[in-house]
Amino acid sequence: MKLSTATQLLAVCPLLVAAQVTNFPYESTQLQWRDTLGNPFLRFGNTSQPIDPDSQPLCRAWPGSQDWPTQNEWRQFNVSLGGALLRPEPPAYACHEGARYDVAQCSWLVREAGRTSFWIDNPLAILTPWPQGNTCSASLNSTGPCTRGGFPEYVVRASSVKQVQAAVNFARNKNVRLVIKNTGHDFGGRSTGAGSLSIWTHNLNALEFVPDFESPGYSGMAVLVGAGVQAWELRDFASRNKVTVLHPGGSTVGVAGGWFASGGHGPLTSKLGLGSDQILSINVVTADGQFVTADPETNHDLFWALRGGGPGNYGVVTSVVMRAFPPIRSTSISVAFSVNPNATQPAPRRGPFQGGVPNPNATAPITAPFPNATRTFPLPSNTTATPRDGTLPLPGSRNPMLTDVQTFWRGVKLTYRYCTKIEAVGGYCYSYIYPLGNSSFRFTHSFSIPDLSAANASTLLAPLYNSLRIAGINITQPRTPTQRGGPSPSLFRPPFPTPTGGISPSRPPLPTRESGAASLSSTRYRSRLIPHSFFDSDPLYDALFSAIITGVSEGGYTFHGIAYTPTETIAGPIGADSAVNPAWRRAALHASFMENIPEGMGTIEARLRDARGKRYADAMSLKGVEGGGSVGSYLNEGDVMETDWKGSFYGVEKYGRLLRVKAVRDPWGVFWAPTTPGSEEWEVKTLDGYPGSQNGRLCRAGRGI
Ligand SMILES: Cc1cc2nc3c(=O)[nH]c(=O)nc-3n(C[C@H](O)[C@H](O)[C@H](O)COP(=O)(O)OP(=O)(O)OC[C@H]3O[C@@H](n4cnc5c(N)ncnc54)[C@H](O)[C@@H]3O)c2cc1C
Ligand SMILES: *[C@@H]1O[C@H](CO)[C@@H](O)[C@H](O)[C@H]1NC(C)=O
Ligand SMILES: *[C@@H]1O[C@H](CO)[C@@H](O)[C@H](O)[C@H]1NC(C)=O
Ligand SMILES: *[C@@H]1O[C@H](CO)[C@@H](O)[C@H](O)[C@H]1NC(C)=O
Ligand SMILES: *[C@@H]1O[C@H](CO)[C@@H](O)[C@H](O)[C@H]1NC(C)=O
Ligand SMILES: *[C@@H]1O[C@H](CO)[C@@H](O)[C@H](O)[C@H]1NC(C)=O
Ligand SMILES: *[C@@H]1O[C@H](CO)[C@@H](O)[C@H](O)[C@H]1NC(C)=O
Ligand SMILES: *[C@@H]1O[C@H](CO)[C@@H](O)[C@H](O)[C@H]1NC(C)=O
Ligand SMILES: *[C@@H]1O[C@H](CO)[C@@H](O)[C@H](O)[C@H]1NC(C)=O
Ligand SMILES: *[C@@H]1O[C@H](CO)[C@@H](O)[C@H](O)[C@H]1NC(C)=O
Ligand SMILES: *[C@@H]1O[C@H](CO)[C@@H](O)[C@H](O)[C@H]1NC(C)=O
Repeated sequence: MKLSTATQLLAVCPLLVAAQVTNFPYESTQLQWRDTLGNPFLRFGNTSQPIDPDSQPLCRAWPGSQDWPTQNEWRQFNVSLGGALLRPEPPAYACHEGARYDVAQCSWLVREAGRTSFWIDNPLAILTPWPQGNTCSASLNSTGPCTRGGFPEYVVRASSVKQVQAAVNFARNKNVRLVIKNTGHDFGGRSTGAGSLSIWTHNLNALEFVPDFESPGYSGMAVLVGAGVQAWELRDFASRNKVTVLHPGGSTVGVAGGWFASGGHGPLTSKLGLGSDQILSINVVTADGQFVTADPETNHDLFWALRGGGPGNYGVVTSVVMRAFPPIRSTSISVAFSVNPNATQPAPRRGPFQGGVPNPNATAPITAPFPNATRTFPLPSNTTATPRDGTLPLPGSRNPMLTDVQTFWRGVKLTYRYCTKIEAVGGYCYSYIYPLGNSSFRFTHSFSIPDLSAANASTLLAPLYNSLRIAGINITQPRTPTQRGGPSPSLFRPPFPTPTGGISPSRPPLPTRESGAASLSSTRYRSRLIPHSFFDSDPLYDALFSAIITGVSEGGYTFHGIAYTPTETIAGPIGADSAVNPAWRRAALHASFMENIPEGMGTIEARLRDARGKRYADAMSLKGVEGGGSVGSYLNEGDVMETDWKGSFYGVEKYGRLLRVKAVRDPWGVFWAPTTPGSEEWEVKTLDGYPGSQNGRLCRAGRGI
């Protein structure tokens, strides 16, 4: 592709048999056979050599035990890395008793760090802290000392492919648990792990625009993206180069890490497909320590599995090539209304998050999965009202306050169902329903439509506003839809509104936050990829909303809905031939229930909450309803304790093939993350049995210590 780099590489690496295609200078620095001569722990692996499972250790090495590498070996390893081995303190040590307790620093961590890139730039931090075991939390009233818990022991601050290769070889040869961390956004603790060596890819940060990229099956504009690049960086880079590239909506989400590895959605997913559909070529260090390129013609099995087949499981990605498009301009329009049955009192705009506080004694199933009568609302027959002139808004409120809960839910149902019309023109919906207590709820929703003038978008949406008015919601259509500047739709900042706030995605960024700012939040997601067929049938649509309404009003969960249609047609032939969860291809709505996990929650309560949350999420699948079922879940925003995770996250039709790729490419199980293909062979042995915790030793399932 870029001859100069390839030529330069040949000079640097005369031992390589075939010229390696590299995207960035950091990929030209590779581990050589001669580097391993004096360092047997750096030797490459050979996937062709059979492994006798009975001779394998039952567990990964554990700090303090005999099998853990010696100080001297770590020192030698550090030398071979050029000094890139870190042994970081857990980031919130200042909040805990001991010599380094510092109330001012702790206060900054709790109150201010989330307005900065502090957590993203930290080698250990993960944004969803509970899987670490809460052994060193950023809280003003922590008790007890700070311990490492589920954080890695050592971190390789990777700035070259050579260091990544060395880390993979060291972990494999020394039986050390390996994790990969990019930004730490994973909701299920997949970028952390007790007793591990972590490869930190954050600093593999480079971008390059290629106007004429040629590869098998593609010819056109592309962007080369380093493993450490975040969404906002890609968005700004694309903007400067006057192109549009699909990126995650969450501004600090990594682009070439977990996002595309599980599909990955972004504001233009109904038009351009999933994150994984953008990928044309992947540079990756595999479990044997080799650095290879995977594309439609080379290492096709890897190319297939890396796109949608689960994060951190087949190799360490060092860069990808993504499709780029001529600028796409989007128009966005918001809908918001609330309900408070006590007309005299305004509904709290930012009420307390009721996040599903279960009765610890409640073992009975929740009320009928699809309560009938009061919770199903037929659509008004009048939805085809004549579109009115978008420049003359009827009188009404931008943010009406209702007193009738049934009217509220009727409006919610009308609005979501309208999303299919928006999806049909390449747009999407982004929404929340917040339970505020006392039968008060708040609904915020926005439509974003690419390549449509403001006036045309207004006309497209007019029937919805009309039908909302007919349904009894005194809402006015915004006079002029928000025109999002630049060639690519803006990112949402803060990327995911916290469950306590009704932050509208169309609001401008908060001026006090840095571009790369990210905060901690122990949010638990349960996701369902709702098929289009549920929107095409009144009974299924009503049943779906019965489940959603029950989850919000009875369960107390915040509902988060993003409506996209990343069909195979939109994906294109390269994207369609990938491991992406088939449920994505059928989906019209990515529906999730969110709850906050309080710090210090015990194992028993955690288990009860899990069981409770599963019931509400499962209700959205409409199993047992005619036409129901065939509902998957989005791994990245799903629950790491999902019961049927193989079918839900990957699809039964693809799981077997993924297992075969895993067996061929990583017979050692060097790479491990919960709910990835093959992960069932291992389990984390925690002391407290906390479900989903990474605070324990990794052992072969059912056989460990
Ligand atoms: C605030 C927020 C906003 C979000 N917004 C969106 C959104 O708009 N769209 C969307 O689709 N998802 C979104 N997500 C979910 C997001 O896609 C996942 O959390 C994703 O895993 C993040 O990937 P990461 O590499 O940034 O994070 P990390 O936690 O660092 O990594 C996630 C997983 O990928 C693996 N991994 C990371 N880098 C590599 C690599 N180079 N090679 C191999 N494996 C690697 C890790 O081992 C881990 O298993 C959001 C999450 C949060 C917390
Ligand atoms: C890998 O192992 C196979 C089978 O033992 C052997 O034939 C091959 O030469 C080995 N490859 C390397 C590079 O050592
Ligand atoms: C690795 O080496 C560098 C440079 O000598 C040093 O600064 C660093 O502390 C070492 N890491 C560890 C874990 O000792
Ligand atoms: C912890 O401190 C915060 C104030 O910083 C307070 O609001 C909260 O109630 C405290 N929690 C507990 C469990 O004491
Ligand atoms: C749970 O059951 C115990 C024992 O029956 C009882 O003491 C407790 O109050 C119950 N808790 C709740 C929240 O109902
Ligand atoms: C639902 O309908 C059935 C039969 O029509 C009835 O027996 C049941 O009581 C209803 N359930 C609710 C919660 O109204
Ligand atoms: C349909 O809407 C019109 C106004 O737009 C109204 O006059 C009429 O009564 C409605 N019909 C029904 C069946 O609601
Ligand atoms: C609708 O809202 C507008 C603006 O707030 C108000 O003037 C009007 O009286 C409302 N109409 C009804 C029927 O509530
Ligand atoms: C619910 O109503 C009660 C009684 O009026 C009140 O004390 C409480 O604050 C209300 N809760 C919310 C979340 O509004
Ligand atoms: C309405 O307000 C009254 C008085 O404040 C309170 O007792 C009642 O619980 C409230 N009802 C709801 C549904 O919020
Ligand atoms: C807007 O709609 C008109 C009439 O349907 C059409 O001619 C025009 O191309 C549309 N423009 C845009 C930017 O969508």
